[in-house]
Amino acid sequence: MAEFARRMAFMQTTADVVRNLFDSMTDPETISFGGGAPAREALPVELVHQIASEVLTRDQRGAQALQYGNPTGIPELRQAVIDRLLAPKGLKAGLENVIIVAGGMESMNLVSQLFLDPGDVVLVESPTFVQSVQVFKLFEARCIACKTDNNGLVIEDVEAKIKQYSPKMVYVIPTFQNPSGRTFSLERRKALAELGSRYDITILEDDPYSEMRYSGEKLPPIKYFDQTGNTIFVNSFSKIFAPGARLGYTYAEPGIIRKLYEVKTATNSFTNVVTQILCAEFFNRGLYEPHLKLICDIHRQRRDVMMSCIQSMLPGETKFVYPDGGLFTWVELPEQVDTTVMLADAMAQRVAYVPGREFFVEGQPARNNCMRISFGAVTPDKIPVGMQRLAQVVHARL
Ligand SMILES: Cc1ncc(COP(=O)(O)O)c(C=O)c1O
Repeated sequence: MAEFARRMAFMQTTADVVRNLFDSMTDPETISFGGGAPAREALPVELVHQIASEVLTRDQRGAQALQYGNPTGIPELRQAVIDRLLAPKGLKAGLENVIIVAGGMESMNLVSQLFLDPGDVVLVESPTFVQSVQVFKLFEARCIACKTDNNGLVIEDVEAKIKQYSPKMVYVIPTFQNPSGRTFSLERRKALAELGSRYDITILEDDPYSEMRYSGEKLPPIKYFDQTGNTIFVNSFSKIFAPGARLGYTYAEPGIIRKLYEVKTATNSFTNVVTQILCAEFFNRGLYEPHLKLICDIHRQRRDVMMSCIQSMLPGETKFVYPDGGLFTWVELPEQVDTTVMLADAMAQRVAYVPGREFFVEGQPARNNCMRISFGAVTPDKIPVGMQRLAQVVHARL
């Protein structure tokens, strides 16, 4: 077999972490707080079945669905993005600002293809979402972590690192972050948009969770404060429609969207038209807003059960993030507990989580006593069972 390209070695460590994450979701006996899947009960199975049976016929849109599509996506879905997802966030857009892509991850991939040369630096949060790091590394970028606190990225540290490393991009998940569940304050959002403009750096704003808000006040995205077009806003339909549909979108200046069109055609020509039509109908029939309420109700209950389990079952010194939405909380155990080592004990007790260390990259110290706990895919009756197992494993380590 011929040698793999150099970039495969470059991203290997991160690739192993991501593979383990996917694998932990497959054992049916294990209660997994590991993966980032939404609740099965929140998937719009019956709605999609109904839509498909009506529109995927010869005299409706069946032939269009199975035919070649346009690289920018079908206009109805782009318009739904503009009217129903961007406008409520205060983001003004026309069709020329939006391209439909294959899931949230494809935006990371296309934007990286467009902006990153080997050796370029991408600043990220500490901790951050490993799968995006994997993409940046695929393009042989160097990811450097900046300091964070409960209000998001520490702006002074970002600015210091901009001066030190001259990065090409800053990658952030400002709302209900994966893995920490934290949300950037309004001031930090504004300040980061301004840094992007002042230093002419791309701010890649990844926003798959903001619609899933269960408590607290809505905040405008970073893109809302962008005066220069330096912020690129990327989003996914995975949490508000269906991850299996593999749909997402990028919202940016027309000049960037035109370039993404070129990259998209060279990557996979266009996004799945069957699922685009189903998703556009889901919006255009007025089904999205009531379904989003259901999604939020289901996940709010799981969040509440999880929070009370963490408080009542884990050791008193445990610190944790109370997320106002999304799927994750970040748990910090007493210093002496190494969550990477402890995972084997947890798996033996049939409970899974993701060790915090996996989410740290160069630039900030890795934390060994943290873990990401995902509450989305476990039913409220099973959360206490899983957390009891986990608590036993933690107490045994102390
Ligand atoms: C922060 C973040 N970005 C992007 C994605 C990818 O979304 P998709 O499943 O639509 O590719 C996820 C999914 O978990 C995520 O947590």
